Amino acid sequence: LEGKIVIDSCNVIGRIDDRIYGGFVEHMGRCVYGGIYEPDHPLANGSGFRVDVLSYVQQLQIPLIRYPGGNFVSGFRWEDSVGRPEDRPVRIDLAWKSIEPNRVGLHEFTQWAGEAGSRVMMAVNLGTRGAAEAADLLEYCNVPGGTQLSELRKSHGQHEPYHYKVWCLGNEMDGPWQICNKTAAEYGLLARETGKAMKRLDPSIELVACGSSGSYLPTYPEWDATVLDLAYAHTDYLSVHAYINDKNSDLPNYLAQSLQFEAYIQSLVSVCDYIKAKHRSRKTMYLSVDEWNVEPFNWLNNDGVDQPVVGPALCEGNFSLADAVVFGTMIIALLKKSDRVKIACLAQLVNVFGPIMTEKRGIAWRQTTYYPFLHASLYGRGTAVHVHVSSPKVDTTDFTDVPLVESVAVAHDDGGLTVFAVNRSVDRALELELDLRGYAPFTSLRRIELTGQQPDTYNAASSPDAVIPREQTTGLQSDLSPTVRLAPLSWNVIRFT
Ligand code: AHR
Repeated sequence: LEGKIVIDSCNVIGRIDDRIYGGFVEHMGRCVYGGIYEPDHPLANGSGFRVDVLSYVQQLQIPLIRYPGGNFVSGFRWEDSVGRPEDRPVRIDLAWKSIEPNRVGLHEFTQWAGEAGSRVMMAVNLGTRGAAEAADLLEYCNVPGGTQLSELRKSHGQHEPYHYKVWCLGNEMDGPWQICNKTAAEYGLLARETGKAMKRLDPSIELVACGSSGSYLPTYPEWDATVLDLAYAHTDYLSVHAYINDKNSDLPNYLAQSLQFEAYIQSLVSVCDYIKAKHRSRKTMYLSVDEWNVEPFNWLNNDGVDQPVVGPALCEGNFSLADAVVFGTMIIALLKKSDRVKIACLAQLVNVFGPIMTEKRGIAWRQTTYYPFLHASLYGRGTAVHVHVSSPKVDTTDFTDVPLVESVAVAHDDGGLTVFAVNRSVDRALELELDLRGYAPFTSLRRIELTGQQPDTYNAASSPDAVIPREQTTGLQSDLSPTVRLAPLSWNVIRFT
C-alpha cells in the first residue's frame, strides 16, 4: 500500500451550501448567442433556446446561475434587456467589443434558468453606472407592484416579482481591463452606498462585494481589506475569482496549482476575519467564488476582434484529461473550504471555457470538465468532512511537498458517504487504504473514475466521448478499511452506501 486516507466522522468541516455548485452565464462570446440560444437551430424550442444544451445544463443540477456578467455588466444598461425583444436596441458591448442584440434579456434568461432548475444571481453595473440605476433595477425586479418600475415590469408581462436573492455589486472593479476600473477606496464607498440603498428597498437580498480578481494583481490583498473596511456592514459575501492554466507547459506544476487556490481562499478568509475583528462585528463574511475554472490548454483569446459581431468565438478551447484532473482538485479545494465558501460559480457554462460546447447548427458535446462538476453536484451534497491523506509527495517548480493524492469526503443525510479523490501523478497508480472511522458499516461501494492513457486527450465534436467516466459497483462485507487503486492522472468518486 502506498498510502492511506483516514475519514473520521468527527472531522466535520461544515454543512455544504448547495450554491457552491453554481454556474455563470455571461453575455460574452458564444455563451448566450450561439450557445444557450440559437433560434435557427433545429433543436431550438419556441423561445429560441437549444434543448440539447438545456438538457446538459439540467443534468448538472445547478442551483444558482450568475448573470449577465462578468465584464459585460460594467456597461450593461438593464433597460435595454426588458420589454418586447423586437423593440430593444442593438448596441456595441464595451467589454467584449461585440454586437449585443438584446434578444436574450432578463425575462428570457430567467425563464431559461427556471427550466434548467436554477435561480438567477443578478449583477448590477457599478462601472458606467451607480447606486441609482442599481436601485432601479432592483425595483423593477423585486418590488411586487405599485411603483413606476414594478408596474413597468408588469406591463412587460411579468406580474410576479423575480425575487432575485443574491446580487453582485459590479464585477472585478480592481481590474485595469474593467470599464470604469476603480481604486479600492472608490469602489468600497460605491459598494457601501449602493448596498445601503438596495437593502433599504429589499432587506431580504444578499450582496456580494468585489474582491480581488486574482492573487497576481498588485492590489491584492489590500484591495480586499480596504473594500471590506468600507462596505462590511452592507455586504454579505466577498467575491473571489480564480482561473488556473498551464501557461508554462509544466504539467506537474499545473497539477499542483490547487494548493495555491486553497491558500488564496484561506488568505481572503483571514482578511474577512481581520475586518470583522477591526469592526467588532458579530457578522461573519462569507466568500463567493463566483468565477472559477481551469483554462483549456489551447484556448483562443481573441478579444481584439476587429469587426464587432454577435457571438464571436471567445475563450474557447478543448479541456484535456489533465485539465479535468486539475479541475477536480479545485472542486476538492472548494469543498475543503466550504465552511466559508457559500457560493461558487463555474465560469462559464457554455462555450466560453465551457464544460458544454456547441457547433453552429450542429451538435452539443461535453468536455472532460463536465464530469467532475456533474459528480460533485450530484454526490457532493451534505456535510463536508476533512480527510487525512498520507500519500507520496513530490516537488514541482513552484511547490514543495505536493501530496500526490488530494481528497475530501461528504457525509450524506441518508447515512451514505462519498469520497472524492484525485491522483495527481502522471505515471504512478496508487493503492490506498480507506480508513473509515465512526461510520456505520456500509454494504456497497460504487466507484466512478475519469482517467485515460494520455494527459492531453480531449473530447471534441468529432469524438465527444474520448474521455468519459467509468462506473463500477462492488459489495462490501462490513469492511471498514477497503483498499482502492487510484489510476495515474485520475478523478475518482468513491460512494459508500
Ligand atoms: O469569464 C470571463 C471573464 O473573466 C469575465 O467576464 C470576467 O469577470 C473575468 O475576467
